[in-house]
Amino acid sequence: MKKLLINAAILISTLFAAEPVEVDDRFSDSTKCKSCHLHIVKEWEQSWHAKSHYENNEYFRATTDYVSRKTRKSLSGVQVECATCHNPRISVTSTGIDHEIIVSMGLGKNSEVKKALENDVISEGINCIVCHNIGVIYSDKDETARGINRVEWTKSGTMVGPFDDARSPYHKVEHREYMDKDPNKLCLVCHANDRSVSDFVFINMEKEYINGGKLCVDCHMGSKKQGIASNLRIDNGKPKEREVRAHTFSGAHTDTMWEGALDLRLEQKKKELFVSILNSNPHNIPSGFGSREIIAELVFKKSDEVLETKALSLTTYYKDKRGKATIPHLAVSSSDDLSVPANGKRVLKTPAQRGADRVEVTLYYRLVNDEVHSLLDLTEPIWSQKFFITSKSISLR
Ligand code: HEC
Ligand code: HEC
Ligand code: HEC
Ligand code: HEC
Ligand code: HEC
Repeated sequence: MKKLLINAAILISTLFAAEPVEVDDRFSDSTKCKSCHLHIVKEWEQSWHAKSHYENNEYFRATTDYVSRKTRKSLSGVQVECATCHNPRISVTSTGIDHEIIVSMGLGKNSEVKKALENDVISEGINCIVCHNIGVIYSDKDETARGINRVEWTKSGTMVGPFDDARSPYHKVEHREYMDKDPNKLCLVCHANDRSVSDFVFINMEKEYINGGKLCVDCHMGSKKQGIASNLRIDNGKPKEREVRAHTFSGAHTDTMWEGALDLRLEQKKKELFVSILNSNPHNIPSGFGSREIIAELVFKKSDEVLETKALSLTTYYKDKRGKATIPHLAVSSSDDLSVPANGKRVLKTPAQRGADRVEVTLYYRLVNDEVHSLLDLTEPIWSQKFFITSKSISLR
């Protein structure tokens, strides 16, 4: 009975979603902010937050289609589910069996759901009026409640920000501590507890994150620097100087971010080679999403002649209800987590090639492993590109 009650409580809390707040045209997209925050808009445009929409990210689109096909749920129904974190300003926050019936009868064309999905207000993904219109974050909520289910929106036109003395002629301004002292709270609204349709948690950055180190924004928006928040001449005819960060949110899709992200140690013990991969970041790598991959390429040489090459892969594979290979979102189980733990290391052991006098090891990262790449038929080069991380070599005895 107690278990039943707890289950009911979880159900109710996951069903709760922020009341959608209609966004006024004057604030609906980033072009409206350009005249006074041009540099910020330009930085954000380069980020993958800006690509978080069915039309703008091939991997996201292919995954959404695949989930719909395999679960026989309408594509629009799945899109609304994913919008919880990917397009949280959506005006419809859940769909039910009635929607499925309407779609299966071919009558969904003019539905509220269709209109919500086609609305320009969500076309920019995680844009300015996602982060800066979060009025309340319910961090004490059940950990499954993420994205829309964890926040309350401000009135349209009220921007929350890091400064308590800002004033703007265009919009209202309110200060929040998660824009300033505690920004992890903002990031973890979405970057945590990513689960499959069967409630299998495939990534939880909140659990793996080691507190006490740097903040998410220290690395993904850079350190605070002297600059401006707005180019409007509000300070005696000049833009006001402020301590600011960059809105780049650079991460796994940016090759320069990978250089030096992990460290390598090589050691030979008798006939075996130990490859230690060291992670000094406060979360696992890879992390953030399932099916990412670290590849260690080993080249054994004898006086510059290549004797053998070998690739070791650190990735996670997923299985569906029938035990077949699948994508993270349809998983009921996974292979062992081989990611390099936060502030920790992972050691790979392999026989040293006989006759070799040298080994060179190079670490690479890929956004999608071969299995998921072929399940989804991805075509854009970025999904198979290998990002260089680091390399080392040692002499062998
Ligand atoms: C993923 C969340 C997120 C998104 C999206 C986002 N911001 Fe921010 N923004 C922040 C955070 C966090 C800070 C506080 C940074 C700091 O510590 O100084 C901030 C700070 C600011 C500031 C104060 C100056 C500064 O740089 O600190 C302005 C102005 C601002 N953002 C405008 C925008 C605009 C315009 C957009 C859309 C192009 C945008 N933001 C998109 C999270 C976001
Ligand atoms: C007409 C100019 C103008 C436009 C347009 C404008 N802003 Fe601002 N905004 C300002 C000024 C001025 C400030 C205060 C800057 C300061 O105090 O350093 C500001 C401050 C902010 C802050 C920081 C608030 C704080 O308390 O830290 C955020 C966030 C912000 N704007 C977001 C936006 C977003 C999002 C848009 C587009 C929907 C937008 N602004 C459009 C002029 C503008
Ligand atoms: C409303 C949900 C939401 C919030 C809040 C949010 N993110 Fe994200 N973030 C996403 C989604 C969704 C993606 C994936 C977008 C895509 O690839 O299409 C993402 C992607 C990223 C990436 C990966 C970019 C890349 O190139 O691989 C980084 C880094 C990131 N976010 C950092 C942050 C930080 C730092 C914060 C807090 C200041 C934050 N995010 C807040 C939803 C969010
Ligand atoms: C000390 C720096 C540092 C801090 C702090 C940090 N990260 Fe990262 N993060 C990295 C590095 C390095 C990578 C790997 C290279 C890259 O993607 O930039 C990474 C990767 C990521 C990715 C992409 C992972 C993938 O493979 O898809 C996401 C998403 C992300 N971080 C989110 C966060 C969030 C959320 C926080 C706070 C809870 C955070 N990071 C804190 C350094 C940091
Ligand atoms: C709990 C919030 C949340 C929900 C719900 C969610 N996602 Fe995500 N998703 C994220 C975040 C955060 C990232 C960015 C992680 C990173 O880049 O490492 C992401 C990244 C992704 C990526 C990788 C994109 C890339 O550019 O590499 C795909 C694909 C994806 N999500 C698909 C989906 C689909 C399909 C759904 C709905 C069935 C969904 N997600 C629901 C939070 C969520």
